[in-house]
Amino acid sequence: MKKILITGGAGFIGSHVVRRFVSQYPDTAIVNLDALTYAGNLNNITDIEDASNYTFVKGDITNSDFIHKLFQEHRFDGVIHLAAESHVDRSITDPVSFVMTNVVGTVNLLNAFKELWKGDFTNKRFYHVSTDEVYGSLGETGLFTESTSYDPNSPYSASKASSDHFVRAYGETYGMPYVISNCSNNYGPHHFPEKLIPLFINNIIHHKPLPVYGDGNYTRDWLYVIDHAIAIDLAFHQGENTATYNIGGFNEWKNIDLVKLLCQIMDEKLGRDTGASEQLITYVTDRPGHDLRYAIDASKINSELGWKPTVTFEQGLEKTIDWYLHNEEWLAQVTSGAYQDYYNQQYK
Ligand code: NAD
Ligand code: TYD
Repeated sequence: MKKILITGGAGFIGSHVVRRFVSQYPDTAIVNLDALTYAGNLNNITDIEDASNYTFVKGDITNSDFIHKLFQEHRFDGVIHLAAESHVDRSITDPVSFVMTNVVGTVNLLNAFKELWKGDFTNKRFYHVSTDEVYGSLGETGLFTESTSYDPNSPYSASKASSDHFVRAYGETYGMPYVISNCSNNYGPHHFPEKLIPLFINNIIHHKPLPVYGDGNYTRDWLYVIDHAIAIDLAFHQGENTATYNIGGFNEWKNIDLVKLLCQIMDEKLGRDTGASEQLITYVTDRPGHDLRYAIDASKINSELGWKPTVTFEQGLEKTIDWYLHNEEWLAQVTSGAYQDYYNQQYK
């Protein structure tokens, strides 16, 4: 039986990838490795936890001995690597943990894969999930393509850029087969409420201020998380060896316009007066080094692999809001304890 390791499968995107692989490929054994940091939550994947082709392993990718033994024991044919520290604001206050997990952790996985197959990589693949933030910031126009130069600005994007470079270096130096994808901002169910959309949904529910950084005129390209999982599935199975694929939503929004749309839909769903939630918008001190605009040219994955988003932004946002409104227990659980300390520190 073919065996694939998915790292970070208890996190936001990873949980959707694990669910997809476990259900679409019953003849493939899926091992989900996750350290269960503040961002990892096994409640994200309770629906597939009893599947016969699924195993969960709790472990830290920064522990090289542990990773080496895990690879020797399971003899993975493929790796889909999502485990990471993923929040820009946290990377500004604690860059070293980003270097440890995103850079050292990635190199540990690459090393363990190299030592396992010792140069014979027939039918093997290392798939690295990365971000469009490695390209830095766009001005008012233009799109990131696969040949845009790397120009990261935050400790988060610098650590992801570094990990991308290591994956390429292992391909060049050791002949390791790999694919890298760089995706735009995701949104959807199970998104941890430190990122813009779930944070603001949670705050609107609880009538709390909506902290918009700077003037709110920053632009992001939003993609529904399940469409990202579908793209990863396609590129993992059909992507060209050593290729990079940019994945995006063809869906740019200025933060302030997105927040106003969110407020409008939430007012309707919660039966509040029109304009009630917009009154919660509060402009706060800007994020240092805030990238002005991200926008992806996803024409390569579209033309080569036939991928395109399956839902519009309006559909995806409605599904997302409905999920949070029907899963207030999940929200309450992840926002208890340490979340409050983070929130008070970040938005003091
Ligand atoms: P997330 O923060 O929700 O989840 C990360 C997961 O990794 C968590 O389950 C956490 O427990 C686990 N993890 C963290 N450190 C670990 C360690 N040392 N060892 C093992 N597991 C560890 O992140 P996400 O938003 O789901 O992002 C997943 C991947 O996709 C990341 O690599 C991120 O850079 C990339 N990405 C994210 C976005 C986005 O919009 N969220 C966009 C493009 C790319
Ligand atoms: P975020 O969801 O953190 O993703 P990223 O920084 O990786 O793009 O932020 C999305 C945008 O929203 C970004 O321009 C920063 C902004 N933002 C706020 O204005 N207020 C907030 O409280 C947060 C978390 C983000």
